[in-house]
Amino acid sequence: MAAPRHGAFHPLTVAAVDRLTDDSVALTLRVPAELREEYRHAPGQHLTLRRTAPEGGTEVRRTYSICSPAPAPDGPGPAELRVGVRLVEGGEFSTFAHKEIAAGDVLDVMVPAGRFVLEPAAAPASGHYAAIVGGSGITPVLSIAASLLAARPDARFCLVRSDRTAASTMFLEEVADLKDRYPARFQLVTVLSREEQESGLPSGRLDEERLAALLPALLPVAEVTGWFLCGPYGLVQGAERALSGLGVVRTRVHEEIFHVEEVTAPARTAASAAASHGRVTARLDGRSGTWPVQDGESLLDAVLRNRADAPYACKGGVCGTCRAFLVSGEVRMDRNFALESEETEAGFVLACQSHPLTEEVEIDFDR
Ligand code: FES
Repeated sequence: MAAPRHGAFHPLTVAAVDRLTDDSVALTLRVPAELREEYRHAPGQHLTLRRTAPEGGTEVRRTYSICSPAPAPDGPGPAELRVGVRLVEGGEFSTFAHKEIAAGDVLDVMVPAGRFVLEPAAAPASGHYAAIVGGSGITPVLSIAASLLAARPDARFCLVRSDRTAASTMFLEEVADLKDRYPARFQLVTVLSREEQESGLPSGRLDEERLAALLPALLPVAEVTGWFLCGPYGLVQGAERALSGLGVVRTRVHEEIFHVEEVTAPARTAASAAASHGRVTARLDGRSGTWPVQDGESLLDAVLRNRADAPYACKGGVCGTCRAFLVSGEVRMDRNFALESEETEAGFVLACQSHPLTEEVEIDFDR
């Protein structure tokens, strides 16, 4: 069978739309038998949904994490995929998802992507994992925890989640179900920022200080094999600092940021001065081409003018869908909230944020 195409879209039928809270829904998408291998996903990956607005015809793409468990590596690919969609104020796609999408509709869906993953088969049999999530950051972690606990009978998972109120908390039932199914191996701590709760934990934000005090009381921090941080930028950064203060090595920490406050968030890679132009050679699905990069244009936009199938979703340095390997030449990235430092050190860049600093730049989307 041919390898799944990088960034390929296929039409998938919506099997169900379930309301989770006042401002969030879960979409279940049916995967036809002939596409199941293409949609085989690792726990923690996301799907990009694409919509062309009826008037004006502008294309909108949004990434949503898969919350359903991953299929076993030796079994068939998934027959269904479920994603969580939280309504964003003024958000074009999320408003469309909440108001218009219904069972039976057909959506344009990219094959799974993303590196915020935990492969159960690669995890130690009795590994201890933990996640700190805020709001819709629960979505990929639900898939990670469910997949790990099902595949590794001795593994343990501690989930620390924060939300505003119980009524605004996504996937309450699914998380409660994990607790019922794995009472000895799944630990859940919920912190509500705007509501008192029965657990005895006081309300308030889950910040660095609070996590630094809470985590050692919950689990043996030094024995945790992997930490998964997911949610708004402020929460992820606070959790990262708390873990660093507790002596956790950076290589054990995996992050995915869902929202970036435009003004306050410094990117992981600082922007430098004015963009230059040059030529980009890009390899995508085994085919290469060389094209000019116009002044101020990103490598992604230069490639997209010639290869409409180049992978992207947010174009904002957050989702990581446009990740490519820099084969030769130099680039500067405007912002990077998606790649870990190990990835940038290994030579990966975000094409949507990269501008050439040398006349010739070569990137490879296939690596
Ligand atoms: S398209 Fe999202 S990071 Fe480049």
